[in-house]
Amino acid sequence: MTYFADNAVSSQPKIIENLLLAQDTRRVRIDAPEMARRVVPGQFFMVRNPAGNDPLIGRALALYDVDAEQGWIDLVYLVKGKLTTSLAKLKSGDPLAVWGPLGNGFPAEPTDHLIMVAGGIGQTPFLTLAREALGRQSFGRSSGYAHSVSFCYGVRSAKYLAGVEQFEEAGCDVQIATEDGSHGPARRVTDGLEGLLENASTTASRRIVCCGPEPMMEAVAKIADDNDVPCQVSLETPMACGIGVCFTCVAKVGTAADWDYKRTCVEGPVFDAADILWH
Ligand SMILES: Cc1cc2nc3c(=O)[nH]c(=O)nc-3n(C[C@H](O)[C@H](O)[C@H](O)COP(=O)(O)OP(=O)(O)OC[C@H]3O[C@@H](n4cnc5c(N)ncnc54)[C@H](O)[C@@H]3O)c2cc1C
Ligand code: FES
Repeated sequence: MTYFADNAVSSQPKIIENLLLAQDTRRVRIDAPEMARRVVPGQFFMVRNPAGNDPLIGRALALYDVDAEQGWIDLVYLVKGKLTTSLAKLKSGDPLAVWGPLGNGFPAEPTDHLIMVAGGIGQTPFLTLAREALGRQSFGRSSGYAHSVSFCYGVRSAKYLAGVEQFEEAGCDVQIATEDGSHGPARRVTDGLEGLLENASTTASRRIVCCGPEPMMEAVAKIADDNDVPCQVSLETPMACGIGVCFTCVAKVGTAADWDYKRTCVEGPVFDAADILWH
């Protein structure tokens, strides 16, 4: 199914706050009531800084948190390159150029145990999904469709951990993996996932959702396949338009015939992991 920008709004919402959450990681809250009413977990927004022309094209940022009644949206970003460095300097009252919500988002599918696997800043799409799955937040579609939610969160070092308390408050079983051992033993998030799958009941239905660096998503997809657990990945391919026009965002996806390029912005960003051709 293709999700063109039919439900999207384009506007210049004001920044309410722009806070440091962790090392190089910030949360910007924008005053965007119409977008807040329309978004579902796993969708994203294209963002530009209207005060300059570099970068000229927008960057995709996933929905992190939203309050539809108060009309705000939170986006969490790693300060990395052009857009995020300029975004980090903006203050409350400054405008942003934003269009969205965009993309398909995660399906609201029933499962006993939803396992969310995040690498680094790939954690952003999961807070609202956890709340919805556990029936704690509603997005105008089915909610309360999981009995339990595990959040396997891998970062290079504990200083990059962002929003852990929010995930705990949402009712997740949070399992942290740091590569340098600064929080528990040094391990990768995939080691924690394998342990979780080994120890979990095999009679309960399980579903994995994953977002992070591509090699990590590929590894998670393999673990899911080896354990016969359905898995969906949210791809972070670079995008220019976000609305299906430019084809900068394509991923190789298997089809009944063979494979085809699919646009991550309108046919994703969430795909069945088993359909992705990683190379
Ligand atoms: C659906 C989707 C959701 C996303 N959600 C989030 C999210 O919630 N939070 C988030 O932080 N990101 C998210 N991203 C990624 C985001 O869109 C941007 O790619 C990211 O924020 C970097 O943008 P930037 O302009 O800051 O970096 P860019 O300037 O685009 O740089 C990107 C990378 O290239 C490197 N680079 C830049 N210029 C050069 C150069 N001249 N030479 C060599 N290397 C260079 C940078 O160091 C950096 O590693 C998402 C992407 C997608 C597709
Ligand atoms: S970003 Fe332009 S088609 Fe996807």
